Amino acid sequence: MTIPEFQQHKRDKKKLIVVTAYDALFTRIVEQAGVSAILVGDSLGVVVQGKPNTLSVTMDDMLYHTKLVAGAAQRTLVIGDMPFMSYQASTEEAVRNAGRFLQAGAIAVKLEGGAVMVDRVKAMTSIGIPVMGHLGMTPQSVHALGGYKVQGKVKDQATMLLEDAKALETAGAFAIVLEAIPTSLAKKITESVSIPTIGIGAGPHCDGQVLVLYDLLGLFDEFVPKFVKPYAHLKADALQALRRYKEEVEQGKFPSDSESYH
Ligand code: KIV
Repeated sequence: MTIPEFQQHKRDKKKLIVVTAYDALFTRIVEQAGVSAILVGDSLGVVVQGKPNTLSVTMDDMLYHTKLVAGAAQRTLVIGDMPFMSYQASTEEAVRNAGRFLQAGAIAVKLEGGAVMVDRVKAMTSIGIPVMGHLGMTPQSVHALGGYKVQGKVKDQATMLLEDAKALETAGAFAIVLEAIPTSLAKKITESVSIPTIGIGAGPHCDGQVLVLYDLLGLFDEFVPKFVKPYAHLKADALQALRRYKEEVEQGKFPSDSESYH
C-alpha cells in the first residue's frame, strides 16, 4: 500500500483499515488480516511500557519499535507516530526527527495538532516526507485538555477543528486521524476535505477506522474507552492458559511423555 493508493480509497469509497502494532510478531498477524496501514503509535507508552500516558515516550523508543514493525511488514503502509517533544519545539527539529522515522523504515509520520503544525507539515511534505495529521482528543495534550475528553462538542471548538482539518490538507497532509469527536462533526470534516479521515471514537462516517491493537484484541483492560470494541478476549485466554500450565506443572502432568526426549 502506497500513499497514493491509500488516498485512492477515499475516492473509491472503500474503507481504510488501520491498527497499531509495535513488534514483528503482531505486524505479521495484522498484515495477514489484510489491513491498509499499521500505525506504530506512541500508545505503546501505555500498552507496552505501562505508563499512565504517552508523554514519556522518546524518539529512541519509537525508532526501535518502528524498525521492528517496518522490518516485518512486507506490503502494508507503516506510519511512525512522532512522540511528544520530537516536533513541537521547532520546525527544523521536527523535520530531522521525521526523517529519522523514514530512515527506520516508516513510509510516513503522524503528528498531533492542526493550524499550529502547518509549517511543520509543509516543511516535511516539501522534502518528500508524507504526514498524517491528528485532531480532536490529542493524547499528547492530555494535561491541557484536562483528561481524555471528547472534543468539538461546542460550536466554536467544532469550527476550529474543521478549520484545522482544512489547514492540514492545504499544508499537504495525506490523511487525518480524528479522535473522540462527535459523529456529526467527523462527518462534516470528512465531507469537507479531499484527504482520508481515519476515525477513532469519531463515528462511522470517516473514511477509515483505527484502533489500538491491544484494545481490539482484548489484551489491555486497564482503561477501555467507550469507542473500543474488543473483537477477542486474549487477556482472558492468556490467563486461562497460564493457570492451566501452572496447575499441570504443580501436579506433575507437564511435561508428559510426549513432551520429553528419550
Ligand atoms: O498512538 C496511537 O496509537 C494513536 C492512535 C490511537 C490513533 O495515536
